[in-house]
Amino acid sequence: MVVMYDSLTGQSKRFANKISDRIEDVNRYIPDPNDEVLLVTRTFRFGEIPEPTKRFLERFAKQVIAVCVSGNRNWGASYGIAGDKIQTIYGIPLIHKFEASGFDTDVNVVRKWINNYQNNKGEL
Ligand SMILES: Cc1cc2nc3c(=O)[nH]c(=O)nc-3n(C[C@H](O)[C@H](O)[C@H](O)COP(=O)(O)O)c2cc1C
Repeated sequence: MVVMYDSLTGQSKRFANKISDRIEDVNRYIPDPNDEVLLVTRTFRFGEIPEPTKRFLERFAKQVIAVCVSGNRNWGASYGIAGDKIQTIYGIPLIHKFEASGFDTDVNVVRKWINNYQNNKGEL
């Protein structure tokens, strides 16, 4: 599994680093159809999906098994809403929203999800 991140100010990248030792930038992905991708992205401009994430999903949505999204609760109703949009538009499950680069609790939730996914894969 590869964790692909889209990060403007570095928070999503920091989170990606905390959950995996294999991370890559969505802008620099060298396609490999065998990769299973966990996407870590961010919310921009009143709840929009950032352009680099859109471009990545247009090509590789089929390989994305889940998405996590960074945001800031100060944005109220649009907190992390890019993740909800990705779930609706692309049918990719949103597993977690976190603020900035995430606290330990956020990291633990996502690590557990990854472990669970990897342990159950053979039985699906
Ligand atoms: C112009 C701008 C618009 C933003 N809009 C939202 C938003 O609508 N909802 C939200 O939850 N966070 C919003 N944020 C906060 C970012 O999603 C948050 O800071 C995130 O951690 C940035 O990730 P990055 O450092 O990986 O780029 C916005 C930030 C900026 C600079």
